[in-house]
Amino acid sequence: MSFHQQFITLNNGNKIPAVAIIGTGTRWYKNEETDATFSNSLVEQILYALELPGVIHIDAAEIYRTYPEVGKALSLTKKPRNEIFLTDKYSTQIKVSESPVTGLDVALRKMGSDYVDLYLLHSPFVSKEANGFTLEEAWKDMEQLYQIGKAKNIGVSNFAVKDLERILKIARVKPQVNQIEFSPFLQNQTPDIFEFCQDNDILLEAYSPLGPLQKKITQDDTEPFFEYVKELSERHIKSEAQIILRWVSKRGVLPVTTSSKPQRIADAQNLFSFDLSDEEVDKITELGLKHKPLRIYWNKQYDKYNYTAQKV
Ligand SMILES: NC(=O)c1ccc[n+]([C@@H]2O[C@H](COP(=O)([O-])OP(=O)(O)OC[C@H]3O[C@@H](n4cnc5c(N)ncnc54)[C@H](OP(=O)(O)O)[C@@H]3O)[C@@H](O)[C@H]2O)c1
Repeated sequence: MSFHQQFITLNNGNKIPAVAIIGTGTRWYKNEETDATFSNSLVEQILYALELPGVIHIDAAEIYRTYPEVGKALSLTKKPRNEIFLTDKYSTQIKVSESPVTGLDVALRKMGSDYVDLYLLHSPFVSKEANGFTLEEAWKDMEQLYQIGKAKNIGVSNFAVKDLERILKIARVKPQVNQIEFSPFLQNQTPDIFEFCQDNDILLEAYSPLGPLQKKITQDDTEPFFEYVKELSERHIKSEAQIILRWVSKRGVLPVTTSSKPQRIADAQNLFSFDLSDEEVDKITELGLKHKPLRIYWNKQYDKYNYTAQKV
């Protein structure tokens, strides 16, 4: 089987592998990080991912409580560190550590690494009262980590246009990435975010890109969207998940996925061995837009934007 990997050039000139295949949140998320909650199965899946060809993009976060599993896999793998792209996120919504600077130090120690390839503020929900610092001060910390090389790239997650505008006003280093929920059934997490990031050269990453498949009620769902994805899956001899992940990437967005099944992890890494035509991409976009918004995360904060979530 031929293997092709793609990279995207970030606004600072650095390169990022164009798909993240092993997210360590969602199905792996834990409330506590103890010996009793240690997940051998997550270690196995990360190790499996690290045996695949190419640079492997892992998505971690302070709030997932999965640093011990990531650390164990990194200590056991034979893949050199420069063939691993490690993303981490500082927890803003729930306070786990004092600040991004102290948070990353702990993270690096637990994961046994000297640096992360990408460090994100997990959400814009930061306040002096709750966190002890403002959003602008949090970004200054991120810039410090970038300057000293502990974070090779920095960015944000779940940021709306107004949040990015606040950062851009004071930034010496522009965010390289905004990781948001994005799928055919949620094409704008918050108003105009898709267009704003593309216009400002901030790479969008899509988490929960497979929302439509995760929420599909029955296998014989006859909605035109599912019919079409099935048709493309047969035409390209690729899984339905690969069709949707490839659609995400053809929209200029970096998909962040995960699985507990080795074949699905391998399929995600092998996303660039086929292509979708512009016509196929546009049809998925259109059929997706006809579906009512499907928002899986940050509902409390963002359901108010559902009226605009299905516009491009
Ligand atoms: N920044 C944020 O706020 C935020 C929020 C959420 C997630 N994330 C990150 O994004 C990562 C991925 O999120 P996600 O898990 O929602 O991504 P996803 O790619 O949309 O969903 C992955 C899930 O879909 C299932 N799946 C895969 N192929 C499928 C198929 N053909 N049919 C039905 N289900 C299928 C997998 O189950 P199996 O295990 O059974 O394959 C897996 O549980 C997380 O782990 C985390 O790292 C970030």
